[in-house]
Amino acid sequence: MKIIKILLLFLAFQLSAQQGGMWIPSLLKGMNEKEMKSLGSELSAQDIYDVNHSSLKDAIVHFNGGCTSEIISDSGLLLTNHHCGYGAIQSHSSVEHDYLQDGFWAKTISEELPNKGMVATLIVRIDDITKDVLKNIPASASIKEQQRLIDQHIAMAKEKAAKEAWQDLKVKSMYDGNQYLLFVTETFKDIRLVGAPPTSIGKFGSDTDNWMWPRHTGDFSLFRIYADKNNQPAEYSEENVPYDPKHFLPVSLDGISENDFTLVFGFPGRTSEYLPAVAIDQIVHKLNPPKIKIREEALKIVDGYMRKDAKIKIQYASKYARIANYWKKWIGESQGLERSKAIEKKKELEAVFQEKNKNNAAYGNLLQEFETLYTEIEETAVARDYWSEIVYRNVELLNASVRLYRFENNVQKTPEAFETERSKILNGFKGFYKNYNTTLDQEVFKKLVTIYKEESPQSHLPSSLKNTDIAALAENIYSNSGLTHMDKMQTLLSGTQEEVLIKMNEDPGYQFGKSLVDNFYEAINPKFQALNLKIKATQKVYMKALMETFPNERFFPDANGTLRVTYGQVKGYQPKDAVLYESVSYLEGVMEKYQPGDYEFDVPEKLIELYKKKDFGDYGINGKMPVNFIGTNHTTGGNSGSPVIDAKGNLIGLNFDRVWEGTMSDYNYDPEICRNIMVDARYILFIIDKYADSQRLIDEMKLVHPKKK
Ligand code: ARG
Ligand code: GLU
Repeated sequence: MKIIKILLLFLAFQLSAQQGGMWIPSLLKGMNEKEMKSLGSELSAQDIYDVNHSSLKDAIVHFNGGCTSEIISDSGLLLTNHHCGYGAIQSHSSVEHDYLQDGFWAKTISEELPNKGMVATLIVRIDDITKDVLKNIPASASIKEQQRLIDQHIAMAKEKAAKEAWQDLKVKSMYDGNQYLLFVTETFKDIRLVGAPPTSIGKFGSDTDNWMWPRHTGDFSLFRIYADKNNQPAEYSEENVPYDPKHFLPVSLDGISENDFTLVFGFPGRTSEYLPAVAIDQIVHKLNPPKIKIREEALKIVDGYMRKDAKIKIQYASKYARIANYWKKWIGESQGLERSKAIEKKKELEAVFQEKNKNNAAYGNLLQEFETLYTEIEETAVARDYWSEIVYRNVELLNASVRLYRFENNVQKTPEAFETERSKILNGFKGFYKNYNTTLDQEVFKKLVTIYKEESPQSHLPSSLKNTDIAALAENIYSNSGLTHMDKMQTLLSGTQEEVLIKMNEDPGYQFGKSLVDNFYEAINPKFQALNLKIKATQKVYMKALMETFPNERFFPDANGTLRVTYGQVKGYQPKDAVLYESVSYLEGVMEKYQPGDYEFDVPEKLIELYKKKDFGDYGINGKMPVNFIGTNHTTGGNSGSPVIDAKGNLIGLNFDRVWEGTMSDYNYDPEICRNIMVDARYILFIIDKYADSQRLIDEMKLVHPKKK
């Protein structure tokens, strides 16, 4: 009876685990290739990744570290999300020309705008160096010693790897340290802004629609890679020319229909799909709730001020969006993990795992070890989150004190660097105080520091908080500290090194902030790191054990910012009983949501006109203009701006978000309700052509009709 039950559970696990996955492009032969074919793909593994010939991967570009972008013309034209280009678009904006509000379109190549510090990275080659890295690592050695040997082997592998002078090397571990890949990369440093729609298109729906379907956002912007005359990476120069890529993606005019094959190619940031049940339980019940509450309280206060004051509204728009983005994600994630019974499912899998490994000396105790370690780390992990959400992220004055703390440490270590360090920190503070409001921050301080004092684990609380009247403390700090204004900060940081350090340490704001930072580095972080190291070591063995215990299962390595392929189909879903979501949204939906003058749902005059006249050019279908669509592609943060590619290798869309019910896919991908959200390529073309009259950009693309015979 027991055996049958276990077999049934095993089968259920196997079935539910099908689909999803973020695969390494150089390792697609076999299972992935077959699976892609069964979903409708006509691409071979080699079409996607090839070292000797150009392939799709040569058009995929890591955009400024955090997002993905793709090359869509033979002149290095780069497509990414509006929210990925946001900072750059904002930095070129002023009251006279507000490109966030009005959009920006370079009418000629000479009008394209350089962006200091912006980078775009291509992957030249991926080598599997696992054997070299993991050879002769004695299992009996300490974790530290093992890591030392691994680092040594990585350095040796880099030493002997072939690369051109202008290329870089990076080694990343996969499967929690069970596989090592070496990436040869090329980083371009002259990236110019080419075009962006107004926020009322590029961020339509804003935070209300964020993480939601149905969606109607034209979340795209255009950049261009420039290279030197040898087509190689170079710092910005007027002499630079548009990059001539090995490959660029043709853009399909034929659109998508339900069940069409889709491939998303990009740089997903982080997933944790192989955590034990006890870890998921901790996330849902211990870690997410306080983080959600802290952000909710901060958002309430910021929102109140933004509504009352036009200046604060601009100053805090981007900060508000950033806080709200993950606040909303965590809520959806916790709900989804509960609803999809992720913890129960993990426990069922673990029962099978345990049964199969009960006599295995190396694997038989892993789950028990996890239980012990996660119980041990819990309080410290919660304390650490309180600290990072309150001190580091959401009370701005405390964030300023973290910066000062690092500054103090740096100059104490290397006194001769004082001047450089001072101008560095002052430079950072200039941007900081430009968007800072003291009254607002004082209120956030009062609320969040009270939560810190009353609700965070008392065992980890510093004495500076224990018997303190928070309201009085806030009053004192915000009226007497130099951390509340750029001018005061300038005064605080002027004088000789000795004077500066004395003044800093007499400042009531810094004194209090420093007590919290000290507490973090003395009482919270060391304990957390020590336990986390053990958890990671256990996870490495568990990952290996899972793959050996279930040899017929498909295991992909967790996302870690490296290039991945994920694939699926265009598909609607059932978010709840009696509700069905279709897979495509149309311009009709933009007009349904339209609220004149509203900061989230306003629609530009010209778009309304085009809609009324149904002036959709070649881009509409049956008198309608498609806007967004959803599919079963397994994506995460970092996949923003990833191309959506059809069965033949053409661009059909641009990834930018996930649906609410499926945000738990970072821990537990469920093909029933996990969907990624994409901008339809036809909407992008329509906006560039009909809305922005930028025919020159359309002309440099290669538009194709893959569905017409
Ligand atoms: N949720 C998307 C992603 O994680 C889009 C975020 C930008 N948009 C916004 N309304 N905050 O990053
Ligand atoms: N918006 C996310 C990003 O910036 C992508 C959405 C997701 O997390 O899947 O990468």
